[in-house]
Amino acid sequence: MEKLIDGEKLNIPQHVAIIMDGNGRWAKKRLMPRNFGHKAGAKVVEQMCEDAYNLGVKYLTVYAFSTENWKRSVEEVSGIMNLLRHYLIDCIERASKNNMRVRVIGDRTALDADIVEKIEELETITAKYDGLNFTIALNYGGRDELRRGVQDIARKVASGEISPETIDEALISASLDTRDIPDPDLMIRTSGEYRLSNYLIWQLAYTEFYFTDVLWPDFTVEDLKEAIRYYNGRERRYGGVK
Ligand code: IPE
Ligand code: IPE
Ligand code: MG
Repeated sequence: MEKLIDGEKLNIPQHVAIIMDGNGRWAKKRLMPRNFGHKAGAKVVEQMCEDAYNLGVKYLTVYAFSTENWKRSVEEVSGIMNLLRHYLIDCIERASKNNMRVRVIGDRTALDADIVEKIEELETITAKYDGLNFTIALNYGGRDELRRGVQDIARKVASGEISPETIDEALISASLDTRDIPDPDLMIRTSGEYRLSNYLIWQLAYTEFYFTDVLWPDFTVEDLKEAIRYYNGRERRYGGVK
C-alpha cells in the first residue's frame, strides 16, 4: 500500500515485526530499577499500535518475552508478568475501541493460569475485529516454535494422516504459531543490538532489517517513519535479479 507521509509517497510494509529492546538500559540511565523501564516500554507499545495502524500497517508483531528471558532475576520476571496482567486487561478495552485483533504467539503452557485465561479472552473477544492485527510474542522462541511445529507434523506422520513426502514449506508454515499471519516485511530492533535473539527465525527469511540505537521506551512515531523510509530504499529481490 502506498501512502503520503510528510509529503513523501511511501510504500507501507504490510507487516512490521519489532524486537523491543533497551528497557533495562533506559531505566539504568535514570538510576531506576529495570521494571521501571518495562513499564515505560509497555506504554510505548500502546502508542505504537495506534501509530502503526494510522500509517497503514496491517500487522504489527512485538517481542515481549523470550523463552530465554526466564534466566533473569525472579524479581524482574515477576515484575514483567504483573505488568502483563494489567496490560492484557487494558488491552481488551483498547482493542474493542480501536477495532484491533490481538493474538499471542509462543508457548503459553509455561505461563500462569490467570494469564492464559486473559490471553484466551482477549483473542476470543477481538477475533471479530478487522483493524490492526496485533500479535504479542510471549514466552516465544523461534526454535521452540519450530520444535513444537515439528512435533505436530511428526504426530500426523505417525498416525498415518500424512506421509513424509508431503511435508512442504507451506505445511511447516502452517504448523507454526504464526499460521494465520503473513511473513514480516520489515523487522525493527531497537537499542543498538544487531541480532535476532531467537525471534521469528523461519518467518524472517526475506524480511528487511532496520536497526536503531534508540532505546525502546524512547521509540516514537518519528522513529517508525524513519524505519519505513529506510524500507523504501531497499530493493527486495527474493533471490532473483532486478
Ligand atoms: C527488552 O528490554 C524487554 C525484554 C526483554 C523483556 P531489556 O530488558 O532486554 O533491556 P536491556 O537490553 O537490558 O536494556
Ligand atoms: C530479546 O531481547 C527479547 C525481547 C525483546 C523480548 P533480549 O534483551 O532478551 O535479547 P539478548 O539477550 O540481548 O540477545
Ligand atoms: Mg535486552
